Amino acid sequence: MACRAAILISGSGTNLQAFIDRVAAGALDLDLRLVFSNRPAAFGLERARQAGIPTACIEHGEFEDRESFDRAVADVLDEFDPDLIVLAGFMRILSPWFVGHYEGKILNIHPALLPKYPGLNTHRRVLEAGDKWHGSTVHFVTEELDGGPRILQGRLRVCDGETAEQLQHRVQAVEHRIYPEAAGLVASGRAVYRDGEALIDGQPASDPIVQTFD
Ligand code: GAR
Repeated sequence: MACRAAILISGSGTNLQAFIDRVAAGALDLDLRLVFSNRPAAFGLERARQAGIPTACIEHGEFEDRESFDRAVADVLDEFDPDLIVLAGFMRILSPWFVGHYEGKILNIHPALLPKYPGLNTHRRVLEAGDKWHGSTVHFVTEELDGGPRILQGRLRVCDGETAEQLQHRVQAVEHRIYPEAAGLVASGRAVYRDGEALIDGQPASDPIVQTFD
């Protein structure tokens, strides 16, 4: 039976689109049950509607604290008992309660070669530091922001004179390849979370799988 998944977004949803396309092509065995947004104007909601995936939106501003919002989100998700929660540009820090409620089931993609550059403005920070390599990381979510065990990284060389916008564009193209692939590893049971670690094919993975792109 396909893994029941929700995708959580806040914006454009190009990573969501990569999942939709991969599932439609029969190349990813996920049952996309819900696309959730904390922003009603998120274009990703429209992508979901066009693909016939149910959507839900709750605005976080209506809640007095982080956990009460997260509990309202979980009430929606738990209606279909999700196996996997995919954060795809969901720009909210999750409460410890939410992370514990779905322990080992939440994936995130972060546009940096973690543990370098957790947080915001990663492309600009990479350029300012003069790094030769940049990329994106798929990891299990723990209470530590952008700090959970890593599964898969896609890396590329930074080009001379490249702007942050150009770099962001190239990194996003990498994300569209690695995120569905990493989710497939989890959905098939090849990548699992156990006691704060990622296991890949049964082995503790202190380092992620790394793929290099042009
Ligand atoms: C992606 O690049 C993702 O790595 C980033 O938001 C973008 C969403 O794009 N996530 C974070 O920065 C989380 N810390 P999308 O809406 O087009 O998929």
